[in-house]
Amino acid sequence: MSISPFSIVPFSREHPKAGFCSGSEILDRYFAERAGQDIKRNLARCFVAIDNEQKNIAGFYTLSAAQIPLMNLPEQLAKKMPRYDAVPASRLGRLAIDKHYQGRGLGQALIADALKKSARDSMAVYAMLVDAKDDNAAAFYRHHGFIPCTGKPQTLFLPLKTLSKL
Ligand SMILES: CC(C)(COP(=O)(O)OP(=O)(O)OC[C@H]1O[C@@H](n2cnc3c(N)ncnc32)[C@H](O)[C@@H]1OP(=O)(O)O)[C@@H](O)C(=O)NCCC(=O)NCCS
Repeated sequence: MSISPFSIVPFSREHPKAGFCSGSEILDRYFAERAGQDIKRNLARCFVAIDNEQKNIAGFYTLSAAQIPLMNLPEQLAKKMPRYDAVPASRLGRLAIDKHYQGRGLGQALIADALKKSARDSMAVYAMLVDAKDDNAAAFYRHHGFIPCTGKPQTLFLPLKTLSKL
């Protein structure tokens, strides 16, 4: 699918967030009530996909700094690392697509956008982490190559070196 009908931009007060409905009450409430506060407190950046024609918010995601303890990397990856306690990461904390726009490749496009932002030259980031809210979300991330953390199957990561495959 071409994502040209959508623009991915930082979320701001001007965007019409009322009516956004992904079907996940927790994520919809987060977006309506807490995303703005998290941005103000520098706890997360939030980006939205805008339908350029309808001007609706079609999806959103949040991105923050994070780290992955070495003990949560699968052994074959951990053994290639120096003996640090943790490796640097970004965290795709929340991702949701409005029901009207699901199944059109937008979730995948937002993951790719978050990976690109994570891979900027100004900071070293080994992988992007995601917190899957349930088994269905975990399956979505596994479909895109994310690897479950050892001992934390709902937390998954994608090494940034795989970026070119998406
Ligand atoms: C999960 C969600 C983000 C997916 O977004 P979407 O735009 O509908 O998904 P896409 O159209 O980008 O799907 C891209 C690919 O993922 C696959 N996919 C979608 N949902 C999947 C699932 N639950 N399990 C496995 N694969 C899945 C699609 O089949 C498609 O595969 P293909 O490219 O090989 O054809 C969206 O449905 C959503 O917001 N759901 C409610 C909130 C939620 O569960 N968020 C998850 C983060 S915790």
